[in-house]
Amino acid sequence: MILIFLSLTWQLTAAVNEMVAMRVISELPSAGYVYGSQQKTDAKPEEKYNVRMKPARFSGPEHLQDLSGKCFKCRDQKYEYVMCPFHNITQEDIQAYYEPYRGVLGVWSDWTIENNEFVAMNMIEGSRCGEGTHRSTKVTFSCGAISELAEVTEPEKCRYVAKFKTPLVCGQNAMVVYPRLPGTLQRQWDEVEQNWQDGDLTEKGYKRQLEAIFVKAGFHLSPDMKRSLLHKAAGKTDESCQAALEAALAHVSQLEEELKLKDDIIKELEENKNIA
Ligand SMILES: *[C@@H]1O[C@H](CO)[C@@H](O)[C@H](O)[C@H]1NC(C)=O
Repeated sequence: MILIFLSLTWQLTAAVNEMVAMRVISELPSAGYVYGSQQKTDAKPEEKYNVRMKPARFSGPEHLQDLSGKCFKCRDQKYEYVMCPFHNITQEDIQAYYEPYRGVLGVWSDWTIENNEFVAMNMIEGSRCGEGTHRSTKVTFSCGAISELAEVTEPEKCRYVAKFKTPLVCGQNAMVVYPRLPGTLQRQWDEVEQNWQDGDLTEKGYKRQLEAIFVKAGFHLSPDMKRSLLHKAAGKTDESCQAALEAALAHVSQLEEELKLKDDIIKELEENKNIA
């Protein structure tokens, strides 16, 4: 009898550890059995997404800072999308009745710059999409009467385009890059343009030098910066895993406590039997 209880303890411990790895603590197999009617708790809203990367800092035209901290929604037949400029874009299935799909379509990283204009916010490192790839989104800007997320499409598998309209970009120079660079970088850009015109640079060299300027200005994310943001998000996950692990271990010692109690009762019963 005691042996059965001991092996049960081990099984529970192993099961709980496995559950921690999968982060489904609310579904401990023992909950109903040992504690009677313990209620399953739904994941908190901010826990329903697995976020791989910490958003980059704000960058780009200063007047767009008004958008930071706001979120914009739109729907199509199947999904609701929520785009938070300079933070993230997510997708939730609104057709499914049971455990709808929720995914991160990207986390704010940097700007797509074309012809001296900020044309799109790059949201990268979203939820997994097949082997080794992750969802990503380009949020394009165009002039509109109100700020709104007009539509989200998926022209290529797991590569999304979100169309954002706002009166903030209606001015002629609202999205021009050059005037928003510090003087030293403006002079570097002048030089690069000159060398390009003089034929001293290949197209590849020209693009590489511009890229270096945009990285220095903070408009493009450097590979190092990206690594660090990925690392920071992973650190957060470690912390919440740690908390979950500790909660589960506390649960296990509670179970062990109860099992000991039952052991004692059994021992007592057996002793009584022997006496009888
Ligand atoms: C997206 O960004 C908003 C605004 O900062 C934040 O409240 C929300 O938790 C973020 N969502 C995810 C999945 O990170």
